[in-house]
Amino acid sequence: MSADKIATSAWHKASWRDFPIKQHPCYVNKESIESVERELSNFPPLVFAKEADSLKDKLAKASRGESFLLQGGDCAESFSQFSTNAIRDMFKIILQMSVILTFASSRPVIKVGRLAGQFAKPRSNDVEVIDGVSYPSYRGDLINSQELDKREPDPLRLLKGYHQSASTLNLLRAFSQGGFANLEQVHNWNLGFVANNNFGKRYEELASQIEKSLRFMNACGIDTQTTRQLKEVSFYTSHEALVLNYEEALTRQDSLSKDWYDCSAHFLWIGERTRDIDHAHMEFLRGVKNPLGVKIGPNATKDDLLKICDILNPLNECGRLTFIVRMGADKIEQRFPALLRAVCEEGRNIVWSCDPMHGNTKVASSGYKTRSFTDIVSEIRSFFAIHKAQGSIASGIHLEMTGTDVTECLGGVQDINESSLHKNYHTQCDPRLNATQALELSFMLAEILQK
Ligand code: PEP
Ligand code: CO
Repeated sequence: MSADKIATSAWHKASWRDFPIKQHPCYVNKESIESVERELSNFPPLVFAKEADSLKDKLAKASRGESFLLQGGDCAESFSQFSTNAIRDMFKIILQMSVILTFASSRPVIKVGRLAGQFAKPRSNDVEVIDGVSYPSYRGDLINSQELDKREPDPLRLLKGYHQSASTLNLLRAFSQGGFANLEQVHNWNLGFVANNNFGKRYEELASQIEKSLRFMNACGIDTQTTRQLKEVSFYTSHEALVLNYEEALTRQDSLSKDWYDCSAHFLWIGERTRDIDHAHMEFLRGVKNPLGVKIGPNATKDDLLKICDILNPLNECGRLTFIVRMGADKIEQRFPALLRAVCEEGRNIVWSCDPMHGNTKVASSGYKTRSFTDIVSEIRSFFAIHKAQGSIASGIHLEMTGTDVTECLGGVQDINESSLHKNYHTQCDPRLNATQALELSFMLAEILQK
């Protein structure tokens, strides 16, 4: 199949099946996967067309510099670590980060979680060798198990992924609209273990300033208790659209517009390893109306980027397409400027977001997969500087983080070093910023956005 075929052939929700595909599970038991697909197709959608449209409108604003995209969450959600507290803590840290960024930049922050569906992982190697024995790689809880004797892709995991996503979303909707996200609660969002360090304290000061502003507004006659914008937040979900059997089964036609939406999440992205223009992931996502992202690594070419725009955003709509740039602190200066210039010169409307995580992964001497806070900050600074030099807009940030005090990334105010990584290392896949590192990063970003 060629890129031309993608652009000219008729799309339907199963048309990806005629294209080559990478990183995809091969289900041996055909009856079982077909029965799971039928079941999923009858389940209620997790999100609704109008919600995806509203996110797209907000992203259009981000592309013009009128708002800022904050997208973040786990590298991979897990079945075993699923808990109310984990979701609550993730939601809290996203609210805290968003308050810091809004206050500094005077721009609304669009909150998008890597949540309620972020289960499937592309892997660099198909096999993992342990004690001389090869096992198929673990590909995320939606596909197989970390246990070595359960590495065969299991279709029933798609059902479990759906149900966990549904209950996660249910809680997120309650948190967003049921009083928890009320700006009056700004102090209560600070996480216990963070409150005692520098950045927790800086957050407390900011929270006090916000409270004072709310009291001032009340004194002026604005009832902050009943103002919806202060009481509720819009929170959106996103994940990498990797397992297309799952995405297809949750793809529904909107009864009003007759357009197709992938109702598994508001925002879907294509990963760095599956963004070939003539492949199945590109074919599938071009046909749904959700706002979309594509990861852009250091080996992308101008031609790749322009073809991705042609395929995923032929009408050049603002807010439809986000490029999530993840080159690595050591490569971004060299690779990104020419790509950005080419896309800008062609007048393509893009939401430019920086993922400073995936180009900066390394293995510590202790064997842990890690990332250094210094590299993460350095890539973000370069991303903003390159945009400034080009006269274009840096519209967002894409992070892997958690609301708990894990020790997975090196550095930051707690000065996590290689020998302390083992203390609280829990990720299912890539190393995440802990809550303190996430706050520290937000204050650093706030300074950049203020300039
Ligand atoms: C991810 O976002 O977890 C991921 C695998 O990213 P990338 O496709 O950029 O490597
Ligand atoms: Co990751």
